[in-house]
Amino acid sequence: MKSFDQGLARVARGLAMLTTLLLLSTAASAQYLQTTMIATETPGDGADTLVVLVPAGTAQVSLPGWNQATIDQVNRALAARDFDGSARQQVEVLAPAGLTADRLIAVGIGDPAQLARHVAEEMGAALAVHINGSKAAVIEANTRLITDPARNAAIAAAVAHGIELRNYRFDQLKSSPEPRPSQLYRWIVQSQTQAEQQYAMLNAVAQGVFTARELTNLPGGDGHPAAFAEYARAQLAPLGVEVTILGPDQVEAAGMGSLLGVSKGSQHKAHLLVAHWRGSSDAPIALVGKGNTFDTGGYDLKTTASILQMQGDKAGGAAVVGALKALAAQQVPINVVGIVPLSQNAISGEAVLPGDVLTAGDGTTIEVTSTDAEGRLILADGIWYARDRFAPRVIVDIATLTGAKTTALGSELSAVFSEHDELVATMRQAGELTNERVWQLPLGPYPGIIDSRIADIRNTGSPGAQAGAIFLQHFARDTPWLHIDMAGQALLSSASGIHPAGGTGHGVRLLTEWVKIYAAR
Ligand code: BES
Ligand code: MN
Ligand code: ZN
Repeated sequence: MKSFDQGLARVARGLAMLTTLLLLSTAASAQYLQTTMIATETPGDGADTLVVLVPAGTAQVSLPGWNQATIDQVNRALAARDFDGSARQQVEVLAPAGLTADRLIAVGIGDPAQLARHVAEEMGAALAVHINGSKAAVIEANTRLITDPARNAAIAAAVAHGIELRNYRFDQLKSSPEPRPSQLYRWIVQSQTQAEQQYAMLNAVAQGVFTARELTNLPGGDGHPAAFAEYARAQLAPLGVEVTILGPDQVEAAGMGSLLGVSKGSQHKAHLLVAHWRGSSDAPIALVGKGNTFDTGGYDLKTTASILQMQGDKAGGAAVVGALKALAAQQVPINVVGIVPLSQNAISGEAVLPGDVLTAGDGTTIEVTSTDAEGRLILADGIWYARDRFAPRVIVDIATLTGAKTTALGSELSAVFSEHDELVATMRQAGELTNERVWQLPLGPYPGIIDSRIADIRNTGSPGAQAGAIFLQHFARDTPWLHIDMAGQALLSSASGIHPAGGTGHGVRLLTEWVKIYAAR
């Protein structure tokens, strides 16, 4: 454990070492952020804002370099606000005596041994909101009061991660985006090495979340199938992910008539994105995401304001791309293939008609009883393609699939469906860790739920979320499979916690952690 004295000894070695600090992340890695995070064991100069993470039960808040006047003023101000170090408390002290900083923000963290990762992330998000409301440019965040080096590193990294996640902006379509002041966060930690390691892992996840938010936020006209696929390629290929994009002719040649059918009414025809991270030579884990880049409903047209949210119908596909990005950036030794069927559900003289019959890649004939149940149509071929071409050991699909899911569970929980208890249990574990929580719904007993009189199956049934899941199960056949319905979780109308308004990137953190939990079990 690096002691405080060792830290002071480093200070004595002078300014030279400051230049050797590893840059943890910079604006270059995230287009819309100008936040720089560095970790060091030695406090520096020039901070206008001090942040102190305070465990519950800290009798008196005090740090090296503070004189008695500082200690007295800070602790008096904290007492006046009833600050006791409970998690999520935040108290600002302006013009602290004896310090050059303009402000000091004490952040309660409760018991460091008990602090959940997602609570630390949310504290970071709240801190970012507070700091962005001031002119802070150099922030020194002191975590020294968390003495255990492993907890210290994990908490510092998670708080920094929460700041990054909240600071994302989608402003590429503004003619003159609001300027984003650059901020340097200098984290004073117990172990620079451990903090950097922890932060590097979470920063990889943040980059994946940003990619997914970016894809989700693109309006239908900009984020059509080819544009989605090319953006994904540009994000993934430099990390060593093998990216293959099947265009409409290849989708047709492969026989994926279900995927093809959904885009027939759009000038933007169907594509299929395949992103393969060969982190090991085991059979791959397949992640299949719904990439319906806009959902008008087709001839079963959406006639309410909900249509204005339907650029978010590619969020499942965006989550798969984001998870692949995070896993590749973390260089995980796991074989993972991401598959995103891409469509635009629109209307024209060529669009699928209600009642038409499509033939899927596996030969199944499907009566289209609703053109608005398009997600399962494109996923059917995505799941089949994963099974047929990659023989995966497991398939997880994720989709903004049904309004019925939102009615049942709202937007705080995703629905999961699987007959494999181990898949449900590991997904639940990943959900608790990331706070992207899941709730299991049943796959039966619903005899005849998607039976068709004229074709093999039809694409609607009741109850609605279950019918969607049972439809997809048909295409997974014997491969262990789990379906995630994340309808209602793609977009936020206003900022909340770690999320700014707009695309959430929901599913990236869940899938990234799940892949690692599942592979390690
Ligand atoms: N993309 C929608 C589901 C959705 C609804 C996502 C609300 C996000 C918010 C999906 O394609 C859809 O339209 N589902 C229909 C299916 C029905 C026609 C069987 C639905 O749930 O209404
Ligand atoms: Mn639809
Ligand atoms: Zn849809």
